[in-house]
Amino acid sequence: MESYTPEVMISEEEISLRIQALGQAITKDFEGEDLVVICVLKGAFIFCSDLIKKINRPLSLEFIALSSYGDGTASSGNVRLDMDITCNVEGKNVLIVEDIVDSGLTIKTLMQMLKLRGPKSVKLASLLFKPAKLKHDVKIDYLGFEIDDKFVIGYGLDYAGRYRELPYIGVLNAGN
Ligand code: IMP
Ligand code: MG
Repeated sequence: MESYTPEVMISEEEISLRIQALGQAITKDFEGEDLVVICVLKGAFIFCSDLIKKINRPLSLEFIALSSYGDGTASSGNVRLDMDITCNVEGKNVLIVEDIVDSGLTIKTLMQMLKLRGPKSVKLASLLFKPAKLKHDVKIDYLGFEIDDKFVIGYGLDYAGRYRELPYIGVLNAGN
């Protein structure tokens, strides 16, 4: 049988505890406000679904799809908008939920695009951050984990469309 056990970098339990804390911080920061949560597809779908359950504020949920990677592990250097949100964010508090900030290009492009639409505020929650690769000026307001410069998969993140269903963050080794 084919081997299918990527090495665990961040366990399900660690992720769950961290998300609980992020949800509490977001709930506190948005006291008296409501928010539009924008889940960046596809990678952030599991993180976003777990995070919103820990946010005790009135919110609406939108999805956006962007791609900067092809099927490889290196950025293509440009960002394509594959699917836009369906609401008007003018005057709204926007919380972008992303899986990982690597070079920062995807999120910087998205932030610039959304700010042109006149929101009241734009904040960013990212599950992961790889500081080694950062090339663009990006501020992560709610960060899950800072990680080493390794290609990670699982908990929504993929390699060539696979491994998204893993309940933990894993590292892809040769042979998997
Ligand atoms: P950036 O534009 O270079 O910051 O890349 C961000 C996007 O690249 C993320 O939204 C992911 O979809 C993808 N990405 C970057 N690093 C990884 C990784 O280690 N595993 C899986 N996807 C990654
Ligand atoms: Mg992504």
